[in-house]
Amino acid sequence: MDINMILLFSLCLVLTLRVAKSFDYHEKELDTEEGLAGMYDRWRDRHKVAEKSAERFNVFKHNVRMIHNHNKMDKPYKMKINQFATMTKREFIDTFADSKLGHYAQLYGARKNNKTLKSSYNDIDIKTLPKRWDWREHNAVTPVKNQGQCGSCFAFAAVGAVEGINAIRTGELVTLSEQMIMDCDTTGRTNACGGGLVCGVYQWIHEHWGLATNESYPYEPRKGVCCGAKFGKYLVILDGNEYILEDNEEAFMKALANQPVSFAMDPGADGFMFYSEGVYIGPCGMELMHAMLAVGYDEDPDGTKYYIVKNSWGEGWGEGGYIRMRRGLPLKQGICNMYAQPNMPLKYPQTKNFIAP
Ligand SMILES: *[C@@H]1O[C@H](CO)[C@@H](O)[C@H](O)[C@H]1NC(C)=O
Ligand SMILES: *[C@@H]1O[C@H](CO)[C@@H](O)[C@H](O)[C@H]1NC(C)=O
Repeated sequence: MDINMILLFSLCLVLTLRVAKSFDYHEKELDTEEGLAGMYDRWRDRHKVAEKSAERFNVFKHNVRMIHNHNKMDKPYKMKINQFATMTKREFIDTFADSKLGHYAQLYGARKNNKTLKSSYNDIDIKTLPKRWDWREHNAVTPVKNQGQCGSCFAFAAVGAVEGINAIRTGELVTLSEQMIMDCDTTGRTNACGGGLVCGVYQWIHEHWGLATNESYPYEPRKGVCCGAKFGKYLVILDGNEYILEDNEEAFMKALANQPVSFAMDPGADGFMFYSEGVYIGPCGMELMHAMLAVGYDEDPDGTKYYIVKNSWGEGWGEGGYIRMRRGLPLKQGICNMYAQPNMPLKYPQTKNFIAP
């Protein structure tokens, strides 16, 4: 074997392994209807999907070709044939990515465009922030969850942020309840699978009983009856919601260096739906539909800066359920409009949780 052969061989090996990690297929399979049908069957097998139809197969073919063509290009992120492969983008957004944050913000006037808005962390000197920070390394992030077929991403982003500040304040990382919000918030600011405002969750927790643990009030992807018996013996008490200055990367960074930050964004892009790995950079729109949780920031050796973001679509999506999103661009609104509605739960150090004897 000459050196070129060895190089080629190792390259193939690397490529094969990379594909195997996501969804195994041979490029040739894309050329024929039979090849694609075989892929469709393997996909159904892997994702335990019984339904088989001409319509789903059509969508699958479209998505598979689109993903394959993207991955051949030299882009900073890759896509993969994931659990959404037989959904159109419209179906995907309606089912998994629509908390309608822009809609609720208009209804409730949630954010005033207040350029003098003061946040707890505004006075920090940006130059004093660490070069990288990852709350997962500081016992402040629970394992990735799965919202299921329900527009409840607002609750997952919010509860993730509450888990974070609670861990920071108490030293104890406890998995908390999305379902309590879905069942019990009747203010209209949130509406279970119909979406809602992340800031509304922080306000509701502050104005009511606190937030129960997931163990005592577990998740079901539907709205249920508010059940006091499930509140349990441990409730996280908050001091409310705090807006982070919008369209302002520095304000976002200062907050994130101090606690995990929830934000709204536009999920309506192929690259987001099928994101696999790398640093996401769009293209995407400006409509605020999906909410996620920023848990850190870092940069690649080549200087590419990014956020570490936790999503709520299970560990099979993206990088073990996470996405890295580009920062440090001359783009006021951030990638996918992510600086439009950032906020965080307030919990002062002296605010104790409710713990029943
Ligand atoms: C903006 O913030 C300042 C300082 O907190 C406050 O006095 C003012 O009322 C706010 N304006 C609006 C429009 O919310
Ligand atoms: C939440 O609690 C339920 C019931 O105990 C459990 O099945 C589920 O795995 C828990 N979820 C998380 C994310 O811990």
